[in-house]
Amino acid sequence: MKKIALMSLAAVAFNVSAHAVTFDKDEDAVALRKSHMHLIGTYFGEMGDMIKGKQPYDAARFSADADRLAALSSWSYEGFAEKRLTDDSKSKPAVWEKKADFDQKMREFHDQALKLQQVAGKGDMGEIRAEFKVTAGTCGSCHKPYKYK
Ligand code: HEC
Repeated sequence: MKKIALMSLAAVAFNVSAHAVTFDKDEDAVALRKSHMHLIGTYFGEMGDMIKGKQPYDAARFSADADRLAALSSWSYEGFAEKRLTDDSKSKPAVWEKKADFDQKMREFHDQALKLQQVAGKGDMGEIRAEFKVTAGTCGSCHKPYKYK
């Protein structure tokens, strides 16, 4: 029940044109998106460690990580809404020059995170591995054009 509620929340909340936060300072926007990505990296990283066997596979934990990833993916676009850049940011200006494409990539990541959350709950290792890999691809396909190394 809890999982279904979280999933529908994530599904409903995703709307890149919604502009929920107004930032006074560039640093605030940069901090939000970096925090978001940092959290995404933390949960996705732990899932990867379990997939690769660096950490014992624990179905409940993997599924909880997938829930968190799905939830985070529903508003990870917010810190990118306006062009806000500081020295601390690794975003390329292309994010805002090709905003429609960037938003599309964010949406693909979100859709895929929901799919991963679904298969994580079912527990079929083959499916989990396959969807984990596709999800990792959505990170890379955005980082490559839009993030400095
Ligand atoms: C639609 C684009 C997009 C997607 C999808 C995306 N990222 Fe990012 N990510 C970025 C951009 C752009 C930055 C640089 C943000 C900045 O510094 O302004 C970033 C930064 C990061 C960082 C560095 C955060 C920090 O502390 O500075 C991590 C870690 C990260 N992403 C992990 C991931 C993972 C893991 C996924 C997939 C599960 C993912 N990202 C999906 C665009 C994306």
